[in-house]
Amino acid sequence: MHLHSIPFFVLLISSVFCYYTDYDYGGGYGAPEGDYYSHLSSGSPNCAPECNCPANYPSAMYCDNLKLKKIPIVPAGIQYLYLQNNMIEGIEDDAFKNVTDLRWLILDHNHLTNANIKKNAFSNLKELQKLYISFNNLTELVGPLPKTMDDLRATNNKIAKITPNILEGLENLTVVHLQNNALKEDSISDAFKGLKSLVYLDLSYNELTKLPKGLPPSVSMLYFDFNKVTNIPDEYFQGFKALQYLRLSNNELADAGVPGNAFNVSTLLELDLSFNNLGSIPAVNEGLENYYLHVNKIQKFTLNSFCKVIGPLEYSRIRHLRLDGNNITRADLPQDLHNCLRVANDIEL
Ligand SMILES: *[C@@H]1O[C@H](CO)[C@@H](O)[C@H](O)[C@H]1NC(C)=O
Ligand SMILES: *[C@@H]1O[C@H](CO)[C@@H](O)[C@H](O)[C@H]1NC(C)=O
Ligand SMILES: *[C@@H]1O[C@H](CO)[C@@H](O)[C@H](O)[C@H]1NC(C)=O
Ligand SMILES: *[C@@H]1O[C@H](CO)[C@@H](O)[C@H](O)[C@H]1NC(C)=O
Ligand SMILES: *[C@@H]1O[C@H](CO)[C@@H](O)[C@H](O)[C@H]1NC(C)=O
Repeated sequence: MHLHSIPFFVLLISSVFCYYTDYDYGGGYGAPEGDYYSHLSSGSPNCAPECNCPANYPSAMYCDNLKLKKIPIVPAGIQYLYLQNNMIEGIEDDAFKNVTDLRWLILDHNHLTNANIKKNAFSNLKELQKLYISFNNLTELVGPLPKTMDDLRATNNKIAKITPNILEGLENLTVVHLQNNALKEDSISDAFKGLKSLVYLDLSYNELTKLPKGLPPSVSMLYFDFNKVTNIPDEYFQGFKALQYLRLSNNELADAGVPGNAFNVSTLLELDLSFNNLGSIPAVNEGLENYYLHVNKIQKFTLNSFCKVIGPLEYSRIRHLRLDGNNITRADLPQDLHNCLRVANDIEL
């Protein structure tokens, strides 16, 4: 029932770009950036009596923390609808009938199940951009969703299935959060295939034993922490043209499952392989800046994992390297370390 003051885009940017700061799922929901005054229909809408429609932000309706069991009546003119922290169990087909231009729909922390979400619940929403439906009781990803979607968050459910094609045609979908579900690789194979704008995909805390097939090549941030991945298919990550941040911590990777150039991907800036069973340091591209290998079984510091060639312009751009929790001491570091790791200012052993 209050307007939070942190602008939403600050949360988004920090959750997308800051490593090791976004593991807690930010609970804040701010006002949208930009031009919300310009979309007002004449006069303020008739707010649902139990909700709050702030006078200075009349296209938003706040109905959070009210123990609601049903979606309230949503008057025409509302574009940003906050329904988090209630006990909503289902969504009727006509729930959003009067608000076909709804842009944000926040449904986190409710009691939604797939069986109680009617098939066409979202199909009238021709302008929907953000759907947040984390911390519910979903066993499948909801949909079909409007083609205008750019941000879909459905973490902390029990999603084990994504119906093939349910995300088809979402050409502007940029961010997908599906961490803390029950996804296996077969249930998501090709589900994300046609998402040509997808940049951020978080599949951490699921049940993947293999990396999924058919991820779109546009992805730049790809997170698989806390799964059970044992091996990387040959050239798997080379298929991504813009991959910069890759996390595979807390999986079951051992040397045998990591082909020689698995992580030597020219665009990569940050790689997290901590908490696995690696016995040696996988080779990486020269441009990599942050490399996390702590808590593995690495016995030896191999400089040629970073530099195959050393020259005026050939050296590793690693700044921060973590090798603590392995079997390596200062004495194991090679004499010529700094010819290769020239800009490393932080090597943790
Ligand atoms: C839609 O608006 C009409 C008129 O204001 C109202 O009677 C009806 O209950 C609304 N329907 C929903 C589902 O909110
Ligand atoms: C989810 O479903 C289970 C049983 O299927 C039930 O025990 C639990 O209370 C439900 N949780 C929520 C948040 O609705
Ligand atoms: C995708 O975004 C672009 C640019 O904002 C917009 O012109 C286009 O209509 C959007 N596509 C869909 C299906 O909403
Ligand atoms: C990474 O791949 C590039 C291009 O194929 C190659 O030149 C380089 O030697 C490789 N780096 C390592 C450390 O193997
Ligand atoms: C750690 O490495 C040393 C030699 O570098 C070896 O003697 C020792 O057995 C290793 N310890 C473990 C737990 O692998």
